[in-house]
Amino acid sequence: MAAIIELENLSKHYSPTIIGVDDVSLTVEDGEFVTLLGPSGCGKSTLLRMIGGFEAPTHGSIRLAGKDVTWDPPYKREVNMVFQDYALFPHMSVGENVGYGLKTLRLSKGEIATRVKDALSLVGLYDKVNQRPQQLSGGQRQRIALARAIVRRPKVLLLDEPLSALDAKLREQMQIELKHLHEKVGITFIMVTHDQTEALVMSDRVVVMESGRIAQEGRPQDLYDHPASPYVANFIGTTNFLPGTSGATQGRLTHVEAPGTTLRAELDAAPPPGREITIGFRPEKVRVLAETESAENTLSGRVAEVIYYGLGLRVAVELEGGARVFADSLLPDRLAQSVLPQIGQSMRLAVAPHNVFVFEGRVAP
Ligand SMILES: Nc1ncnc2c1ncn2[C@@H]1O[C@H](COP(=O)(O)OP(=O)(O)OP(=O)(O)O)[C@@H](O)[C@H]1O
Ligand SMILES: [Mg+2]
Repeated sequence: MAAIIELENLSKHYSPTIIGVDDVSLTVEDGEFVTLLGPSGCGKSTLLRMIGGFEAPTHGSIRLAGKDVTWDPPYKREVNMVFQDYALFPHMSVGENVGYGLKTLRLSKGEIATRVKDALSLVGLYDKVNQRPQQLSGGQRQRIALARAIVRRPKVLLLDEPLSALDAKLREQMQIELKHLHEKVGITFIMVTHDQTEALVMSDRVVVMESGRIAQEGRPQDLYDHPASPYVANFIGTTNFLPGTSGATQGRLTHVEAPGTTLRAELDAAPPPGREITIGFRPEKVRVLAETESAENTLSGRVAEVIYYGLGLRVAVELEGGARVFADSLLPDRLAQSVLPQIGQSMRLAVAPHNVFVFEGRVAP
C-alpha cells in the first residue's frame, strides 16, 4: 500500500507555553481508517486541522499523496473535513446541501445530479433528497453532512468527533454504518474521538495521543493486549495498577513482587531484577476463585464494593496489602440473590501470567 499522508515532526505551539501538537510523525496508508484518540486537550483537533490546512504548523511538514502541502490552503488539498457542528443550510433541500460543495468544480448539471445521487445513496438517504434538514433526525443530518463531504471525492476525509452529538443507541448504529461507508468508498478516513470503544470498533489503526504527542499507535487489539505505558493501558479499557518490584526471570516468566503477594508475568521483554515497576491487569481478566479452588497468581482481600451493570458485576476488592482492585464477572442469566458477593466477605482472585502487564517505574497513570 502507498502512503497517502506523511507527517514529519509536525508541531503546533500556540505560544511558548501552550503546546497543541508536539513533534508528531505519522504515516497513513491509502484507504486506511485511522483514529486519533485521547483525552480533552491532548491535541487531536489541532493535528486534524493542520492536515486539513485550517491551522499552520510551527514546525514540520505534511505530505499528501507524495506532494508537500504544508503551506497549501484547504481548497488546494484533496482533503475534506467534517467539523463537529456539521451545520447544514436550513433554507436548502438535502440535495442542494450535498451538491453545494460541487459548485466550484464546474461540473455539468447532469454530473452534479449523478454525484449527489451517488453520495446520498451511499449514506442510504437518497429518498430524502427533496426534504429540508429540519425534517430529518439528528442521525440523518449527520449522514447528510457525510454525504456532503464525500461528494467531492476527496482522497482523505477528516472527521472531528463526527458522532458526538448523537445519543448512545444511534451512535452505536452510526459507528457500524460509518465503518461500512469507509469500506464502500475506499477513501482514507482520519477520525478524532475521545471515546475508546468508538476507536476500537471502527479503526484499522488507533493513534493514542498524550499532551500533543503520540503515546502509542497500533491495531486495536495490539493496543489492548500490549499497551506500552500505564497511560495507554488505562485509556484503552480499564486497568488495575499495583506498585511492584521485579524479580527473577525463568524463560518467559518473570516473578514480580506486589504488595502482599508474588505474581508471575509472561513478558516479551523482562526488566532486570530489583527494579521498581508498575504491575497492571484488567478487571475482565481477573477470575474470582471458589472457596476451595487453587490457582496460580492469587490475590486475597475483602469485598469493598459491588457494582451491578446488567451484563455483569464489578467487584472492588481491598487487597491485604491495602490496594484496591476491580474484578469483573459476567452474571448467569438468572441471578440468585445468594450469589451476590457481600461487602466485607473475603475473596480470592486469580490472574493468568499472560494477562499481567509490567511497566517500568512506579508511575501512577
Ligand atoms: N486557537 C488556539 N489558541 C490557543 N491555544 C489553543 C488553540 N486551539 C487549541 N489550543 C490549545 O491546544 C491544546 C490542544 O487543543 P485541541 O483542540 O487540539 O485538543 P483536543 O484533543 O481536540 O481536545 P477536545 O477533545 O477537548 O476537543 C489545548 O491545550 C488547547 O487549549
Ligand atoms: Mg477537539
